[in-house]
Amino acid sequence: DKGNHRHFMLKEIYEQPVVVAQTLKSYVRSLEEQVSLPDMDFDLAGIERVAIIACGTASYVGMIGKYWIEQFARLPVEVDVASEFRYRDPVLLPGTLGVVVSQSGETADTLAALRHMKEAGITTAGIINVPTSSMAREVDLLLPTHAGPEIGVASTKAFTCQLAVMAALAVNLARAKGKLSPAEEAEIVHHLVETPAALNEALSHDAEIEAMAHTIAAARDVLYLGRGSDFPLALEGALKLKEISYIHAEGYASGEMKHGPIALIDEHVPLIVLAPSGPRFEKTVSNMQEAQARGAQVVLISDAEGIRQAGEDAMATIEMPKVHPLISPLVYAVPVQLLAYHVAVAKGTDVDQPRNLAKSVTVE
Ligand code: M6R
Repeated sequence: DKGNHRHFMLKEIYEQPVVVAQTLKSYVRSLEEQVSLPDMDFDLAGIERVAIIACGTASYVGMIGKYWIEQFARLPVEVDVASEFRYRDPVLLPGTLGVVVSQSGETADTLAALRHMKEAGITTAGIINVPTSSMAREVDLLLPTHAGPEIGVASTKAFTCQLAVMAALAVNLARAKGKLSPAEEAEIVHHLVETPAALNEALSHDAEIEAMAHTIAAARDVLYLGRGSDFPLALEGALKLKEISYIHAEGYASGEMKHGPIALIDEHVPLIVLAPSGPRFEKTVSNMQEAQARGAQVVLISDAEGIRQAGEDAMATIEMPKVHPLISPLVYAVPVQLLAYHVAVAKGTDVDQPRNLAKSVTVE
């Protein structure tokens, strides 16, 4: 049932404040100011490295997880798309935690990668939305997302719920490795608890995003830029747009622009820049300005401070609330999803059932 919404995708985008809160509730103990995981029969303190395997949107959760786990737990993290991982004979040293991320829990390549890790004798965990799925049954540690059924082929609410659980995993690894004080953990808890409100605030910009969708819908190519954990989000933005609007789109790490992609820039290529204010901001903005000097039409997605500093020459700006870097990927996912959605609607494509795609890819 789509409720009042025209498509499942839009309904699912709007469900995010509720389902992310639901998911966080099972990991965050607000009173104790702690982030916990379900009981497990191994010791997280014994983990020396992490390998995260997934496909598509779920693989971008893995990439964001790499930034978080390396930053907070100081453990090396490798991220792979499952179709590559399973055939390249990866080196899996003892002490590796193998993590799969999957909405369906049935994606053929991810399931095969999970079985490969189990055969190699390493401990596995799974961030999975369907609790009865094959992966949910086979992982050593199930870390459920509580997104509810996701019907739209384009993954939206599963993504933000996966990020919430990935954050909980990063915090638990950090504590187990002695890299996080109770005060630091309490601070993270406070920020996580603010996420649903920040998602609501992000959703309140829907009409502005819809208003500029027509301009983007006229483009042949669209580029997305981000740095740090906003880089995987740029990839997610591009995937979402191509998947449902059939417009060619690419996501790049901002610093890579001048190594090739900037050659694509002219006034016909919109550039979507994901840049919350903070330590990475100025560098991303300077990449953005290099593109603007070559005619790029920029949509800057940032907070009030970032927009004040760098929004002047943009074709459009979308203002996000100012949030902690840990929750910013969840919040910035919203405008990225809404933009893809409204562009697809403007183009008249079948948003919930895009051509050539299946919700669950159970063949390799
Ligand atoms: O069910 P899974 O999370 O394992 O699915 C992985 C990908 O097939 C999926 O995220 C796909 O990329 C989406 N259609 C993207 O919106």
